[in-house]
Amino acid sequence: MSDKKWKVPFIQPFVSDETKNRVLEILERGKETGSFTVGVETQIFEENLAKFCKVKHAVTLHSGTEALFAALIAAKIKPGDEVITTSLTFIATIEAIWQVNAKPVLADIHPEYYTIEPDLVKKAITKKTKAIIPVHIYGQAVDMDPIMELAADHNLFVLEDACQALGGRYKKETIGSIGDAAALSFHPQKNLTVCGDGGALLTNRTDIAEIVEMIRDHGRLRNQGYDHRILGYNFRLGEIRAGIANVALPHVEGWNIRRREIAKQYMDGISSTHTICPKEAPYSYHVYDYYEIQTQDRDGLREELTKKGIKTDIQYPKACHQQVVWDYLEKSKINLPVTEKLIPNILTLPSFPDLTDEQVSYVIETINNYYKVK
Ligand SMILES: Cc1ncc(COP(=O)(O)O)c(C=O)c1O
Repeated sequence: MSDKKWKVPFIQPFVSDETKNRVLEILERGKETGSFTVGVETQIFEENLAKFCKVKHAVTLHSGTEALFAALIAAKIKPGDEVITTSLTFIATIEAIWQVNAKPVLADIHPEYYTIEPDLVKKAITKKTKAIIPVHIYGQAVDMDPIMELAADHNLFVLEDACQALGGRYKKETIGSIGDAAALSFHPQKNLTVCGDGGALLTNRTDIAEIVEMIRDHGRLRNQGYDHRILGYNFRLGEIRAGIANVALPHVEGWNIRRREIAKQYMDGISSTHTICPKEAPYSYHVYDYYEIQTQDRDGLREELTKKGIKTDIQYPKACHQQVVWDYLEKSKINLPVTEKLIPNILTLPSFPDLTDEQVSYVIETINNYYKVK
């Protein structure tokens, strides 16, 4: 089915007339100045993003994966160090740990909130543990206070994976402003997209921001010419994508409010006999980057929704430790009962801000009818 035929598409990235005009402006400006890599759009976006997330520094990067990787380098995570995280995440969280030759250690999740359990993190800490990556999965905040206490007690670096949670909150704090650093993604499925890949590192630590800025640009600081100080990469976001982000950022707060309204409509409308809707943790301002239900006969329901023109997805069909790459690199068999019980039942419903109330009602009705006639 081509995307135009979906009555309810899965995502609808934001591309307004202002976005198109901004891209044209940047192209015209770049034609004069040659400045397409790190320039005025990048600077403005970094300043506004830092304000929005209530942190001192935002460093834009080519993707969220690179934000995680660069942060672990900046935290001096070394080969053989252990980094505790969750298996219910996009593989990039684990890849970043492997990329610095450290060892991912997986802790299980809360059965209703889907985020890492601080008590299980505590049990997983060894002498080799150097960092924790709490993942604010689907837009739900991790219970950060106990994580930060453990980090203080054991001198651990906390890297929030906030790739799905821009604008979310933990108690009164903005997600991404609590740990030593945080990674954001601007992939098209995220609540701010740059119509391609994009990411950013957030931090209140100037030492971390400076190292990540150097890693992003061949080991040099901004405007430092050919003065290369550390081993770097080319992880720059680029002016066009920064410009697209500048147009999108002022909308994020409103989009998150709309995502929460849609979540409430699903929660109120979907019959609880065969499905479990996501629960917002009491300390979390959930931003529903993904709206994940648990449901019986997930594959049958998904097929029915497809037949009715409703596009869905599954985040994720396998947990990270169930992937082939895990067996290849880690070779350790892991038992995460809560994660493993959840995986076969989860289904991601459309939840982008432009979804109309009629489309949401149609999804609800289709799900409820499917189980009624069975
Ligand atoms: C939880 C999580 N971590 C990391 C990433 C990686 O971000 P990116 O795709 O921008 O590299 C993503 C994006 O899909 C994600 O959802």
